[in-house]
Amino acid sequence: MQRSMRFRYDVIVIGLGRVGLPLSLYLEKLNFKTLGLDKNIELINKLKNKNMPFVENGCDKLIKNSKINFTSDYKNISNCKNIVITVGSPLLQNIETDLSAIKNTITNLIPYLKKNQNIILRSTLAPRTTIYVKKLIEKFSNLIVGKDIGLSFCPERLAENRALYELKRLPQIIGADDKLSKKMAIDFFKNFKVKLFSTTTLSSELVKLFQNTSRYIEFATANLFSLYANNFNQNIHEIIEIANYKYPRGKISKPGLTSGTCLRKDFGFINELNHSPDLMLSAWKINEYMPLHIVNTLKSFKEFKNMKIGILGATFKKDSDDLRDSLVPKLIRYLEREVPKGIKIYEPNIKSKLILGYQNLNSTKIMEYSNVIIMAINHSVFSKKNFYNNIKKNTIIVDLWNTLNKDKFIFVKK
Ligand SMILES: NC(=O)c1ccc[n+]([C@@H]2O[C@H](COP(=O)([O-])OP(=O)(O)OC[C@H]3O[C@@H](n4cnc5c(N)ncnc54)[C@H](O)[C@@H]3O)[C@@H](O)[C@H]2O)c1
Repeated sequence: MQRSMRFRYDVIVIGLGRVGLPLSLYLEKLNFKTLGLDKNIELINKLKNKNMPFVENGCDKLIKNSKINFTSDYKNISNCKNIVITVGSPLLQNIETDLSAIKNTITNLIPYLKKNQNIILRSTLAPRTTIYVKKLIEKFSNLIVGKDIGLSFCPERLAENRALYELKRLPQIIGADDKLSKKMAIDFFKNFKVKLFSTTTLSSELVKLFQNTSRYIEFATANLFSLYANNFNQNIHEIIEIANYKYPRGKISKPGLTSGTCLRKDFGFINELNHSPDLMLSAWKINEYMPLHIVNTLKSFKEFKNMKIGILGATFKKDSDDLRDSLVPKLIRYLEREVPKGIKIYEPNIKSKLILGYQNLNSTKIMEYSNVIIMAINHSVFSKKNFYNNIKKNTIIVDLWNTLNKDKFIFVKK
């Protein structure tokens, strides 16, 4: 890593969440003199005490030995050569891009910006957000992008819990609209020793959005097929198994509760810009309908007033401890509309006794309690043979993902 003598730090990472924190630790591992900044003071204190705020493979060990300085003070920006921004980029309620975190970050850092610094936007961004950031910088500072400072969009593409593994391997997209910004971004990322692809900022934004959205549509297709199979009173898991078996083309994904902070909003960044409903909006509609599909299917099996429901898994995806943008809260709201006898959760990846306001039982207790089990998320522990054996006889089981490998969406344990 080539060090600039003019700056005390090689890099500052702004936004120390699921993307920014593993990235900071990885940069330190690559020998970057690293500073981490987040507006959340509670988080900063936790990090100063060398505690990981979430589970991410390998990061516990790195943070224990880390010498990264963590701060909430934007003044430190002027001491940093590279400024990597990984703050959240959510969607407002009615499919409208929420630029507030990006705007606040840029507004806060502008007073401390200096010539020769390099800004890298790494949050997932709506089309043309990098150009918007350029305009903000040039309006509120006397610096020109491409002449005085660098500005690029270089998206993060990793999956949670695979951060350290994927940072080492995933090709990096460099989105830059001028020579200086491109050179500065390449100088930074060449230290990762991965394949680099250079393109415009807008194409770089679209690469990230198209990639995530295509997965979202793929899962929506599987979910739509499961709804159709249900209408025909046929077994979706059996159909998918037969279709995919040793067939070399067009694998069908498994149905499931498809959401998460990325997939649930990225489609909206593009859809918002069109005047009419499109395929992406349809995908959203299908994926968001799946919790209700579970509830409607259950209706024909037993009266809700007698149901003691155990929900297995509460996070947004398999083997994660991340509850953000999970569809389980929505599932619970729909179940509550039917007034069941009770609902309890078993989420093996979260230790707290209460989750979403419901008791988080252990595996034995949830089996004892439930006469209905909903496999809400396909955590690996649920696929173990003993796990299924421990479910009581006559329990109604809903297994949208086929986690139990019984090839049935809903069935009664014999
Ligand atoms: N989580 C993932 O697996 C993943 C993967 C690829 C891309 N992304 C994208 O990366 C971005 C960040 O995602 P995340 O999951 O890390 O989000 P996150 O919510 O976990 O972290 C964002 C952090 O930014 C901080 N922050 C917000 N505004 C700030 C400001 N003005 N100044 C300083 N700090 C500020 C927040 O306090 C928070 O700690 C999003 O755009 C997301 O879509 C996420």
